[in-house]
Amino acid sequence: MILILLGPPGAGKGTQARLIERDYGIVQLSTGDMLRELAQQDSDLGQEVRQVLEAGQLVSDDLIARMISDRIGREDCRNGFLLDGFPRTLVQAHLLDEMLDRKGLTLNAVIRLAVDEEVLVERITGRFTCAKCGEGYHDKFKQPAKEGVCDRCGSTEFKRRKDDNPETLKTRLFAYYKDTAPLIGYYHAYRMLSTVDGMADIGDVTKAIQAVLEA
Ligand code: AP5
Ligand code: MG
Repeated sequence: MILILLGPPGAGKGTQARLIERDYGIVQLSTGDMLRELAQQDSDLGQEVRQVLEAGQLVSDDLIARMISDRIGREDCRNGFLLDGFPRTLVQAHLLDEMLDRKGLTLNAVIRLAVDEEVLVERITGRFTCAKCGEGYHDKFKQPAKEGVCDRCGSTEFKRRKDDNPETLKTRLFAYYKDTAPLIGYYHAYRMLSTVDGMADIGDVTKAIQAVLEA
């Protein structure tokens, strides 16, 4: 199964991707996570990526396409994969089509998480993740069961993203509306798009996604 999760920053793509990964045994490919890893490298490329991420802008289509093409060729993607944060521009969508064609693969569904803009600031500014396993949390909406301890791996270290502030979020949202929102029309035209209410509770969003996948 090959899926795309589409939605603005804070829509819940990462949260749902992890749950789908667990339930369906397909691997989550988050371009944001890959870039954050790259940004830690002490190289010119690492520094360049770090600056783009901190500014909330998009990195080049070319770099992203190379990252994804390499990644989906790996063994753990044989059962399928879930794209979280890619494609993010029409150019990337075309590149993905070509990549899948070349590899003889077919996209099964594009799931759009529809969320009102008002909630995004709260979701983004309250987000934190486990520093060890990456499990995502929220100050208000998803606290660890035991305060200060990761539900998943037991670690007591958490981190917050540098781009998770109201100012950078404005740039990220601008990029979303300008470059990514046109993909809604693109996939709708190809009858690939299913829209899920991303305003619902995390568990209800998961159920709605499962219903799409089982249909
Ligand atoms: P990326 O990491 O993809 O960030 P994003 O798209 O801005 O999305 P987020 O990760 O912020 O949100 P999410 O939808 O995953 O929400 P989450 O589940 O965490 O990209 C970062 C940067 O990398 C980009 O700005 C760009 O620079 C670059 N980049 C990445 N891909 C690129 C590409 N293809 N091309 C070019 N550049 C690229 O949820 C958020 C919070 O809300 C969490 O705390 C969660 O607990 C909570 N929450 C989730 N769902 C709910 C719910 N239903 N109810 C209440 N709370 C909820
Ligand atoms: Mg994410």
